[in-house]
Amino acid sequence: MGVLARVGTGACPYDPLRGESLNKIHGGNIYEIAAKQGLDPAKIIDFSASINPLGLSPRAKKKLGKDGLEAVLHYPDAECGELRTALAQFHGISENCILPGAGSTDFIYSLPRVLKLERILLVTPAFSEYENALETQSRDCRIHFFETREEDGFELNVEGLLLALTQGYDALYLCNPNNPTGILAEKKDLLRVLAQAEREKTWLILDEAFIDFVPEESLIRQAAVSPRLIILRSLTKFFAMPGLRAGYLASNSGMIEKFSRVKEPWTVNALAQIAAVESLQDKAYADQTLVYIREERENLAHGLQGIPGFIPYPGSANYLLVQLHPSLNLSAAELREKMIPRGILIRNCQSFHHLGPYFFRVAVRTHRENQALLKALRQVHKEILKKEWNSEVRIQDSEGKAAGLPGLKSSG
Ligand SMILES: Cc1ncc(COP(=O)(O)O)c(C=O)c1O
Repeated sequence: MGVLARVGTGACPYDPLRGESLNKIHGGNIYEIAAKQGLDPAKIIDFSASINPLGLSPRAKKKLGKDGLEAVLHYPDAECGELRTALAQFHGISENCILPGAGSTDFIYSLPRVLKLERILLVTPAFSEYENALETQSRDCRIHFFETREEDGFELNVEGLLLALTQGYDALYLCNPNNPTGILAEKKDLLRVLAQAEREKTWLILDEAFIDFVPEESLIRQAAVSPRLIILRSLTKFFAMPGLRAGYLASNSGMIEKFSRVKEPWTVNALAQIAAVESLQDKAYADQTLVYIREERENLAHGLQGIPGFIPYPGSANYLLVQLHPSLNLSAAELREKMIPRGILIRNCQSFHHLGPYFFRVAVRTHRENQALLKALRQVHKEILKKEWNSEVRIQDSEGKAAGLPGLKSSG
């Protein structure tokens, strides 16, 4: 059962000297790793950031190539008019219910200020920037954690959450599918959570950064009509544009108006606007992505299950959370270190709330790259077994000698 766990007090106002309490660990830091290890960043296969392995949409690539250089000579459209229209068409909701920003992180940082959030309920494990933003942007905040638990397969305990919501929160933060577990909460359950949030006058801040991989599960249509729903969306993951920075907020028109009034101008650069508009209209690319990721995720999960002691969770997006059985005597941090010299970067998940040392996350990448990952993991697994076997043999050998028995031979 999920619980209302410890109360973390983000003792605000933020004191920059206290910055070490913020968790700034993310996937995708290949330049740092490459510099530390003396490796060529181009030779590292990055499984730590979950980005569409098919790359930018062909339509976006073409348009950027054609119009990109000219576009950077002008200020971008501060209203993101074309992008808003494209998003409204994409979702079948009014343009007045959508506000583009420089990635969803843009809004993760403005939410606490605009909504003056103080009492927060946060479903964990969760993306670390929610807490970082609350701690730095809210004048006075208290964060309660509602855990999804290993023994429940990290499924959301809906009844527990409905009860927890009666405790008077300003906002509930929930990510669906969850990052890093990949577990999807069902739409019918989220609608119950939303109804309860509306009754309790609590904002439901629903992060749908990865929902494009299961688009039918999105609550975006409800965002336009609900008085209490704010949806965060990202173009980073599905549309493979982490370097361009594009995301958006969806909510009722009153709330969008409120955010628009305080939004800095020109945050969404010209290239991001071009790429986003084209990507949203590239239906062939979206269809291909959905098929590709589904197939490769299954292959990868199957391959991981075939390595004894590696336990993948049933993820719905383009990544998998994997648990290392304690009998392997191998932490995720140690595994990560063993993979780096093989040119592979995985995400050690110890920095996420209550996940502990035995969880790591891998992105679903191209077929060839996924096979390279599985091969490297199998090699590491073999090495561990060999080491265990050798040390066991040594122990038995010395015990045997001490007891005057003939020594056992090491298998080398
Ligand atoms: C769950 C989740 N939400 C939001 C973001 C931020 O995405 P962006 O700012 O690139 O849109 C991330 C990035 O890793 C994420 O994992």
